[in-house]
Amino acid sequence: MKTAEDIVKAVADAVDSPASRDVVLKFAVQILKEERKVYDWCGIYLLEGDMLVLHNYIGKHTDHTHIPIGKGVCGAAVAQQANQIVADVTKLDNYLACSIETRAEIVVLIRRGTEIFGQIDIDSDIENAFTSQDEELLTSVCDQLARRF
Ligand code: SME
Repeated sequence: MKTAEDIVKAVADAVDSPASRDVVLKFAVQILKEERKVYDWCGIYLLEGDMLVLHNYIGKHTDHTHIPIGKGVCGAAVAQQANQIVADVTKLDNYLACSIETRAEIVVLIRRGTEIFGQIDIDSDIENAFTSQDEELLTSVCDQLARRF
């Protein structure tokens, strides 16, 4: 298992490489999915107007390819301009289910100041799977990705 530092370094190197933004965004999802066992579904949504559009993901099929601002955990992150950590999604009203096995979810914004470009969304089948360490790792990854917007 790579350390958070190693993961961020690998993403930073990809951002600095000649690879296209699409390739870099896919690489970030891939390395997070591979390196963290509890990350059962990893994806990136990009903000297009007032809609979050699914860019790429690894995990079970989801119907939620387009999410309006304010809807679900993903839409709430944009509406509140704040990352979201949900310990148990079954206790949430404003939740868009992607898989019935999902228990916990974390959403971290790809942003520069108040400008939001998108988000990394991760689901886990384990309740309370995400800690402030996950938020730190994902924030560092998002900070790197934001350099491509
Ligand atoms: N659960 C998210 C929707 C995205 S799927 O989990 C992939 C939400 O409530 O916004």
